[in-house]
Amino acid sequence: MRFLDIIEKKKNKLALTDEEIQFWIDGVTNDTIPDYQTSSLLMAIVLNGMDEKETAKLAEAMMNSGDVLDLSGIPGIKSDKHSTGGVGDKTSLALGAMVAACGLKVAKMSGRGLGHTGGTLDKLESIEGFNIFLTEDQFKKQVSEIGLSIIGQTGELVPADKKLYALRDVTATVNSIPLIASSIMSKKLASGSNTILLDVKYGEGAFMQTIEDAKTLANAMISIGNRLGRNTMAMITDMNQPLGNTIGNALEVEEAIETVKGNGPKDFTELCMCAGEIMLMQGKIANSKEEARKMLQEAISSGKAFEKLLQMVEYQGGNVEQIKNTKLLPQAKFVTEMKSREAGYVEHIHSQQLGILAMHLGAGRATKEDSINYAVGLRMNSKKGDKIETGDLLCTVYHDEELKQEWIENFYKTFSFTDNKVDPIPIVEEILG
Ligand code: URA
Repeated sequence: MRFLDIIEKKKNKLALTDEEIQFWIDGVTNDTIPDYQTSSLLMAIVLNGMDEKETAKLAEAMMNSGDVLDLSGIPGIKSDKHSTGGVGDKTSLALGAMVAACGLKVAKMSGRGLGHTGGTLDKLESIEGFNIFLTEDQFKKQVSEIGLSIIGQTGELVPADKKLYALRDVTATVNSIPLIASSIMSKKLASGSNTILLDVKYGEGAFMQTIEDAKTLANAMISIGNRLGRNTMAMITDMNQPLGNTIGNALEVEEAIETVKGNGPKDFTELCMCAGEIMLMQGKIANSKEEARKMLQEAISSGKAFEKLLQMVEYQGGNVEQIKNTKLLPQAKFVTEMKSREAGYVEHIHSQQLGILAMHLGAGRATKEDSINYAVGLRMNSKKGDKIETGDLLCTVYHDEELKQEWIENFYKTFSFTDNKVDPIPIVEEILG
């Protein structure tokens, strides 16, 4: 097989065979196909697309490019969820505990964050001693025993994706539905769970800006999952304002704890409940949404969800005292209240900008090498649709260094106001799959 012919084929808008896709991914993994040829094929895919069969084969070939976790020794259905990422997204922390308290087995591998705030792993590491580097055996044992573990990637998962993503990043070929869908799904498939729930966010703070684009990506990922024998569903969710009230690692851990205790913000709680309903049905723990919601409500009100979170933290070596008393989590030196300079209904909150401002406080990384300050971040005291008077509290800033005037001015630009009432947008727009 000549790789040049494969590039020609895609240039001419033809579908690639399974063998051709496998040949490509083998060549990427073994470094036998040069980057300039892969870059050329990537661009042809961006321009001419891939059909569902090609996309599923690409995900499968990437999944098999490295280690694939075998969770079959753990009894029952193993479930995973994935979010395309957003500002203030601490869903895995609360949701994992909620559904595991209902009897679901959650085996989750998460990532670190780049830009905005940290990823799930960074948030977990704001708990003293929390170990995200379990061995595969420790991970499986924990999921068997308590039904919940969240760790960083073990072994070498999907090396082909690492190489392709690095090339896509520098060849203007990130933005392609088949490439994004196969990249995300190859990692989910290699993590070994039987069911996958995708939280595909749309809006200003999200990877996909519009509902339509988010749905197209979600459908592409559902098709891959189902073709490869995983029960895959997706939620299309709003990211036109930060999720919940907090942005920043320890602040988000605190909010996740409050949520599993039943005291979480409305939008974040609702997102977790909807996601929990789907996961409990995928895992055959509940037969209907109504039954699932009741189970989740009971897990919260009985304290079982909180107990499950404590158990996970204890198993992974974290300081449970910080979970019992969140004042023991890292605390910032300074707390500054940002009061509104305007009156009106909050029309828009530029979540991406707020995420970047939180990153400048130290809550996220601008480059892979940056370290994270777990204590700093923002607490939203007002959200979209709230009626605000001049001088009302908009947001509380937790910081370790003096706020610069430029930061403050940029903060005020993230809120816009209107005289007209603003209709609330549902947090979950649609469920697919
Ligand atoms: N996230 C991924 O893992 N891959 C992509 O291609 C885009 C976002």
